[in-house]
Amino acid sequence: MKTDYNQISIEYQLSKLQPWRKHVEAYTFFNLLGHLTNQSVLDLACGEGFYTRQLKLRGASKVVGIDISEKMIALAEKAEQRNPLGIDYHVQDVVDLDLKQTFDLISAAYLLNYAKNLEELVAFAKSISRHLKPGGRFVTINSNPDFHAPAEVLRKYGFTRQNESWSEGSPIIYRFFQEDDSHFDIVNYHLEKSTHKLAFETVGLTKVNWHPVQLTPELKKDTDKAFWKTMIQTQPIIGLSCSW
Ligand SMILES: C[S@@+](CC[C@H](N)C(=O)[O-])C[C@H]1O[C@@H](n2cnc3c(N)ncnc32)[C@H](O)[C@@H]1O
Repeated sequence: MKTDYNQISIEYQLSKLQPWRKHVEAYTFFNLLGHLTNQSVLDLACGEGFYTRQLKLRGASKVVGIDISEKMIALAEKAEQRNPLGIDYHVQDVVDLDLKQTFDLISAAYLLNYAKNLEELVAFAKSISRHLKPGGRFVTINSNPDFHAPAEVLRKYGFTRQNESWSEGSPIIYRFFQEDDSHFDIVNYHLEKSTHKLAFETVGLTKVNWHPVQLTPELKKDTDKAFWKTMIQTQPIIGLSCSW
């Protein structure tokens, strides 16, 4: 059942071109990440480097990307060779990561939603705390534990989200549709907001805050705003930040 990104690396990369990624996901994520100039950033679950590259291009002094999938890192390395930005990528499980260095900022787009229970979430949180400077921040974008809308309401954005149930560790199936209407699935797991808070507090990260996703103000036309209303109302994904 576990999603193997080695099998879907190209499909996933293409899914990052869906407009909601830019108008909602990236807009919210970078708002939360804030000022990047001269910041050292560790990007966990970096995938093929979609956000890793943007972190560097937006001014971070040093960026390291970590992902468990060799194929995703191979795509990231290929982009680095084509257009060198000075990013270091490593194939590694975040749980076992020990870079023996700390960062001003740790980012992660869709890592925590692979934990199936409190113990696995604490293991992620421990790794984050190991690599975070005193005064540093962790910022993530993740599946929203409080999403309760029918799966199909998101179809117009190019995907659906189906919770098998809302019990702890229950699978969440995201189905991404491509232009030819073919699709691929990603499986995440449901854990309550209170479980996330507990995991971070267990490792000493106490300022845990949730941030609803927002629509970029770049879209001015009322028709555009109306199209995105469902996503903003239903909040399939959500931001989370925490610090010491
Ligand atoms: C939904 S993708 C997100 C990729 C990238 N952050 C983005 O937004 O494009 C999730 C990524 O998490 C990685 N991943 C899952 N569990 C991991 C773990 N324990 N350690 C490192 N990477 C992991 C997967 O290989 C995959 O590339």
